[in-house]
Amino acid sequence: MLLAQITDLHIKPRGRLAYRTVDTAQCLEKAVEALLAVPQAPDAVLVTGDLVDAGRPEEYGLLKEILSPIRLPLFLMPGNHDARGPLRAVFADHRYLGSDGPIQYTVEEFPLRLIALDSLVDGQGGGQLGAAQLDWLDRRLAEQPERPTVVAAHHPPFATGIGHMDKIGLEDAAGLAEVIRKHGQVERVLSGHLHRSIQTRFAGTLASTAPSTAHAVALNISPDAPSAFSLEPSGFQLHWYEPTAGLISHTAAIGDFPGPFPFFENGVLID
Ligand SMILES: [Fe+2]
Repeated sequence: MLLAQITDLHIKPRGRLAYRTVDTAQCLEKAVEALLAVPQAPDAVLVTGDLVDAGRPEEYGLLKEILSPIRLPLFLMPGNHDARGPLRAVFADHRYLGSDGPIQYTVEEFPLRLIALDSLVDGQGGGQLGAAQLDWLDRRLAEQPERPTVVAAHHPPFATGIGHMDKIGLEDAAGLAEVIRKHGQVERVLSGHLHRSIQTRFAGTLASTAPSTAHAVALNISPDAPSAFSLEPSGFQLHWYEPTAGLISHTAAIGDFPGPFPFFENGVLID
């Protein structure tokens, strides 16, 4: 199974740039193109939050339009820039989004089970899952203890060293760790929010963040790093699951790059 992860799309209304600089709609168009150009079609696409920049209905409308060439099962999650009401209204055909409360759901139809969490707290940058959602997660994981599972939350449950982002991290990361540690089938905790590819050990499994389809958070591993972004190559991830290998994750850069070029000519390594 191949699970694509795109994240932090930050779509603005048509013609408006994020932070007066980033054409996030154009970035997403390029991301969709790059995703669909991979020789292996993903089985599903997971979008780990910050779908739009300000939770506006027209932003979700534009998001829907740009994502429409992806004719694959598509699973959306909210981030701190999202608003549940407009998201649910525009994507009313996405029944898994539910009709009220947190947008938490499981995806059961693939060899790898997906559990999406909702860490959005209205009006703030930092995230929280809350006791009720952690209890829900615990019960979902207890249902199928043998089933390889990925848990996704917009806010990563670990400190990254990038101070200004850690200040708006996941408040109850320790609570999430307590739940995850009880369930050995969790292959990975997938997140966005950091606009970079970062990995660490977490609660007996691995946790990772994926690059944004748009701007990156500037690489500055310091508690006093100024809040800043850069336009280094954007990207997405492909998580390949195979029962004997487990979950293998690839990061792809988005852009027009030369190649691929062959290494060999007539069976001989090109010198
Ligand atoms: Fe973001």
